[in-house]
Amino acid sequence: MPPKKVSRIAYSTQLGKCYQAFAEELLSPSNPARPGGVSLILTSPPFPLNRKKRYGNQQGEEYVEWLRSFAPLFRSVLRPSGSIVIEMGNSWEPGRPVMSTLALRSLLSFMEEGKFNLCQQFVWHNTAKLPTPAQWVTVERIRVKDAFTHIWWLAPTARPKASNRRVLVPYSKSMKALIASGRYNSGTRPSEHNIKPTSFLKDNKGAIPSNVLSSSNTSPNTAYLRYCRERGIPPHPARMPVDIAEFFIKLLTQPRDLVLDPFAGSNTTGAAAQRLGRRWLSIEPNESYVSGSKGWFRSDLTDP
Ligand SMILES: C[S@@+](CC[C@H](N)C(=O)[O-])C[C@H]1O[C@@H](n2cnc3c(N)ncnc32)[C@H](O)[C@@H]1O
Repeated sequence: MPPKKVSRIAYSTQLGKCYQAFAEELLSPSNPARPGGVSLILTSPPFPLNRKKRYGNQQGEEYVEWLRSFAPLFRSVLRPSGSIVIEMGNSWEPGRPVMSTLALRSLLSFMEEGKFNLCQQFVWHNTAKLPTPAQWVTVERIRVKDAFTHIWWLAPTARPKASNRRVLVPYSKSMKALIASGRYNSGTRPSEHNIKPTSFLKDNKGAIPSNVLSSSNTSPNTAYLRYCRERGIPPHPARMPVDIAEFFIKLLTQPRDLVLDPFAGSNTTGAAAQRLGRRWLSIEPNESYVSGSKGWFRSDLTDP
């Protein structure tokens, strides 16, 4: 069934536009307003839940096909050097203490259809995650808390634009002391890695981060939540923390590059892109989520 048409620009800033629309409609090759030249697609698609959530997720094999159908659309708006970053939560089979493989199968099918490379897998450890699935974790005590989601970095080429120099993290105390001391126990390790005397002693202005990212999305005081509270708008139930979005935008783009979130929800991606001076374009069909997301941009909004 073709999607119901809701397409309109809901709001814009100097750097970006939020469309109230379905992604398949806005990114369709027959749409003259379809964007192009996208450097990064950063998104959390509606999760493949085994029960329907408020925003109407597809279920089961239908979901695999649904996600797969976006591969050619994403590929066609992406620059050859661009990347796609997809967050996918874990899901569980209904009534059984068994994890669903649907998210993994959907990802593989999406990658196959778009002929994407898997550049790197990341894990977002949600430090504030409640103990779920409750039945197995807190009632029967036969599973542990499910506290991370996968974030998959895909790209049409094996060497998309990226620089880890843009996401360095502060050195640990011990590393600072080591650099200051100028002494490092060099030589060949049991792992057969040969550590040269100078390799670890150069001050590179920060440490290279790992692919395990820790963050919570509980801060009650973001501009977004304050705005929703003031207007009685229910906040989006599955938001990505802004620092996670910022990490990928910095790693994979430069100022003025275009970042697209086709399943924008509360528009965390647009908010992070705006803060980092990247152009952005976000798509979300749910009117209430779109209205709430204006809260990120209060001072940046331009008149339509
Ligand atoms: C997991 S949420 C995204 C949350 C977002 N990353 C954030 O930080 O708020 C997925 C969103 O996709 C939206 N959605 C569902 N079907 C869609 C479609 N066909 N096109 C665009 N968005 C869609 C849902 O309304 C939902 O808000």
